[in-house]
Amino acid sequence: MIKELPEPIRIPAVPGGQSNVGFVIGRDELIKKLWKASESSSILLTDIRRLGKSSVLSKMAAETNRESKCIKISLQGVDTTTKLCETIIKDLYTFQTLSKRVINNLKKLFTGFEVSAGPVKIALKQAYKYDPLATLETALIEISKVLNEEKRFLLLACDEVPDMLLSIKDKEGPDEARKTLAILRRLRENNPSLCWILTGSVGMHHVMSQIGAGDDLTNDLIYYELGALEASWAKYLADCLLRGNDVKYDPDTSTEIVRITDGIPYLEHLVVAYARDQKETLGGNNVASLFDRAAADLDVSHQSTSLLTRLDRYYNPDDCLLAGSILDELAQHGPNKRPTLQEALSCTNGQPEKNLKRIVDLLIRDHYLKRTPDGDISWKYRSLARIWEIRRAS
Ligand SMILES: Nc1ncnc2c1ncn2[C@@H]1O[C@H](COP(=O)(O)OP(=O)(O)OP(=O)(O)O)[C@@H](O)[C@H]1O
Ligand SMILES: [Mg+2]
Repeated sequence: MIKELPEPIRIPAVPGGQSNVGFVIGRDELIKKLWKASESSSILLTDIRRLGKSSVLSKMAAETNRESKCIKISLQGVDTTTKLCETIIKDLYTFQTLSKRVINNLKKLFTGFEVSAGPVKIALKQAYKYDPLATLETALIEISKVLNEEKRFLLLACDEVPDMLLSIKDKEGPDEARKTLAILRRLRENNPSLCWILTGSVGMHHVMSQIGAGDDLTNDLIYYELGALEASWAKYLADCLLRGNDVKYDPDTSTEIVRITDGIPYLEHLVVAYARDQKETLGGNNVASLFDRAAADLDVSHQSTSLLTRLDRYYNPDDCLLAGSILDELAQHGPNKRPTLQEALSCTNGQPEKNLKRIVDLLIRDHYLKRTPDGDISWKYRSLARIWEIRRAS
């Protein structure tokens, strides 16, 4: 719990927009833990979509007062090993904070690349395209050597890694995706001055099974789950949003926003933006109904869909049906024990108990559900259960 919070600032509500890193609230404890953990291992930071993973990486990369530096590399849209190599090398080449020696070492390797001036573009030369991963590995080893001599370390924060692996699998085949994962593993193992945070919202377990990779390619990673904002920061963000968006509110509003959104920052942005755009007063007693209306309005909250639409892409059709029924049942009736859940579902599905257990476990790994200490199974976030219910009914 944070003892003293700063005075709320004005933050514009831009649900899903790229907000200024100064408007990324809280997460300081987690960031401290990530830095500490990264000194001895690499990290996989996951959670469902829109929870704020990229924002955490942006905040880490913006920290200027550290000896060790963090570079955020977005792998969104990377669907070939060539693009992976070009993206990482370009981001490193243009990373202002690296020493001249590191950049010069990188330049020595540029026989393999075409570098265009202006907004820097880096393309792998044709002759090197037959093995872009080898080029990437050589470049990173060279950088690592200099960093080692300088006794510094660099944190490579790679965003959207599982998605990238699946895209490489789709375009170049599972062997290339596996090879990518293997090279990343080898780089982590042999170059301690380069540390890695890999993030993404698709569970790595789905990726591993789709590309036929074994645990040995990821079992060095420490898993972190992002989660919602810590309660006092969630309230602080609500106060900042209320001040920054020309909405009328009362003293209970921010506490109610946190209760209804579970402190998920994207949903806090959403509900305040909705009240602002609909010119509604936000009072302690109408946050819930405004939230429901925002969730039902597909134009306003199209990004909420992405919180909940991972099932049909990663579950086979039978599993997807059962997962949908489990999520329906728990959204409508709240926490449940497995035998009761089995009873409730048996009339509609007739699925055997072992399937139920397997899918519940999968939904827990995918951050939809949680198991409480007394053995109940429930949605992890009540707010997302509500969005699920509203969307399923429409
Ligand atoms: N700590 C925060 N403080 C304020 N706003 C935040 C915070 N974290 C996230 N947000 C807001 O929530 C939205 C989603 O955040 P972000 O893009 O970081 O999520 P994500 O987990 O990377 O999503 P995706 O899985 O879709 O890539 C953004 O619009 C951002 O402004
Ligand atoms: Mg992101």
